[in-house]
Amino acid sequence: MTAMKTAMFPLQLSGIGFAPSGTTILQDINLTIAEGSCTVILGPNGAGKSVLMRIMHGLLAPGSGRVEWGSLEERPLSQAMLFQRPVMLRRSVLSNVAYGLHVQGIPIPEAKRRALAALESVGLQHLADRPARVLSGGEQQRVALARAAALQPRILFLDEPTASLDPGAARAIESGIAALHAAGITIVMVTHHLGQARRLARDIVFLAAGRIQECTPAHDFFRQPQSQAAADFLKEELP
Ligand SMILES: Nc1ncnc2c1ncn2[C@@H]1O[C@H](COP(=O)(O)OP(=O)(O)O)[C@@H](O)[C@H]1O
Ligand SMILES: [Mg+2]
Repeated sequence: MTAMKTAMFPLQLSGIGFAPSGTTILQDINLTIAEGSCTVILGPNGAGKSVLMRIMHGLLAPGSGRVEWGSLEERPLSQAMLFQRPVMLRRSVLSNVAYGLHVQGIPIPEAKRRALAALESVGLQHLADRPARVLSGGEQQRVALARAAALQPRILFLDEPTASLDPGAARAIESGIAALHAAGITIVMVTHHLGQARRLARDIVFLAAGRIQECTPAHDFFRQPQSQAAADFLKEELP
């Protein structure tokens, strides 16, 4: 592979397999996540989407294959992940967001300044002093998004970030994600909301039974999926 090619991706998976205690969960996953892209992973329940996200993020070691990060620019590679249910520390909203920055060695006043700016970007600055755990689920997820944004990651992984939210809260998260993508952060997301996938995705990865069935530009996928499995999936899912 040429140096030029290496500089074109932040993340490449080759031949990834995951089969703990003999049960195949993922097999032969080959995927390149391009710098600045927004990739949405779709697929039925149990397809292996969360396992794949965890392997990409480094929370889970694959049984076989390679996860490679391309390094470009001087900026260190950084990543963050959002889960279906946000995990809030027993602290104020502001310190939930500032904590991760402080842990990275950023002095407290600077961490707080950046945390407040991140909260502003999701419209939650007015809740900065509230204990995070008293917020609604939607507000907590927005805090989690602000916490991820404050770290200024190169790539953000989101695993069904709006699954437990009402439509209004889901929209607020969605526009936050769109804003982060517009700011240059590479996005990899799992969602069950096809509308959300249509609005956000540049590329769709369709996963079923632990295999990538399709990896297509979003426009093509929604117009005419290549596999029968994806066509069936699109028919069955709510819009
Ligand atoms: N850490 C793990 N070790 C072993 N098996 C797992 C692990 N996590 C999930 N699984 C199994 O892998 C399969 C796919 O799970 P998951 O990735 O959560 O599916 P989904 O596509 O719904 O996110 C499920 O059968 C699940 O029980
Ligand atoms: Mg999942």
